[in-house]
Amino acid sequence: MQNHPEHTPADAPKTTSSSGDGAAADATARNDALERQILADPGRFRVLTGDRPTGLLHLGHYFGTLQNRVRLQEIGVESFVLVADYQVLTDRDVAENLPESVEGLVLDYLAVGIDPARTTIFTHSTVAALNQLLLPFLSLVSVAELGRNPTVKDEIAHSRQSAVSGLMFTYPVHQAADILFCKANLVPVGQDQLPHLEVTRTIARRFNSRYAPGSALFPEPEALLSAAPLLLGTDGGKMSKSRGNAVALADDADQTARLIRGAKTDSTRHITYEPATRPEVSSLVLLAAMCTGRDPRAVAEEIGAGGAGMLKRTVTEAVNEHLAPIRARRAAYARERGFVRTILREGNERANAVAEATLDEVRRAMKTAY
Ligand code: TRP
Repeated sequence: MQNHPEHTPADAPKTTSSSGDGAAADATARNDALERQILADPGRFRVLTGDRPTGLLHLGHYFGTLQNRVRLQEIGVESFVLVADYQVLTDRDVAENLPESVEGLVLDYLAVGIDPARTTIFTHSTVAALNQLLLPFLSLVSVAELGRNPTVKDEIAHSRQSAVSGLMFTYPVHQAADILFCKANLVPVGQDQLPHLEVTRTIARRFNSRYAPGSALFPEPEALLSAAPLLLGTDGGKMSKSRGNAVALADDADQTARLIRGAKTDSTRHITYEPATRPEVSSLVLLAAMCTGRDPRAVAEEIGAGGAGMLKRTVTEAVNEHLAPIRARRAAYARERGFVRTILREGNERANAVAEATLDEVRRAMKTAY
């Protein structure tokens, strides 16, 4: 079994025990149960999440994950937020404008309400002991398993590199180190990250059974899927700053108005909320609804015969109003010279202390504590 970790029957992911709608219903039920446990006992959980510093965060990030991170922080779940400044090199040879991207990402975090006094914000390149976990972790997965990861396969297919780097191939294992160095047991993620979380769970389980039987040195972290419905970009495609179809938190009110004015709608004048048949119009309605905390059907009904023009004015106003305090906070932090650096220095110090303690335990478990 040791030589064929991929054949361990107990490793079959529980998420694939049924298929189709059944699996989706299972996932929702598990998520609901998890939410109840978190609310009942937030102190039992430790969250780790993070982003690659590739550019400014947009409304999709905001409603999809940032709000959820702030919510967990507010109910008292200890949280770590990671700037994945090594992982950014998976599909490109050099990370351009890295210092600006890292600073922008941290400003976005601070602007939405991630509080560095309660949440550790750190860059994983700075945490040597975290990175050292990669070596024992790599020994616990097979090359075949790495090659089967659907998210990595997809990224390789869309990579802008001519050859697949070793980092691309192994980054889910690095991500396991990101999560396990602080023994996080809760990881709020999107669907695309689920295969990575499965890798993390597998590594935790295998490490424990090989080196720390009976002691559960590492937790098997749970994914927490966002309940927020998916927003489309203004062109109707996947929202992404590089496609020019996303409102960034850092954009100003005029940039926002311009982008939404150019948004794709359809030829039916009367505005309704029908995501399946009118995806573009419905996504705009949804955006206005999310910004104002209203039901999208009510928003659509109110606009009705006002058509696409009124829809776009409503959305622009709702977005700009909702983001105004966030943008004001972002600008204020950006004016404080050296502030982001101080936040990162303190966060990195804390992350390093936690990582050193975990690595010590790992060394003892592996009998390499000399
Ligand atoms: N892969 C994540 C992304 O592309 C970023 C990330 C790196 C991450 N390490 C992580 C997310 C650990 C959750 C947990 O957005």
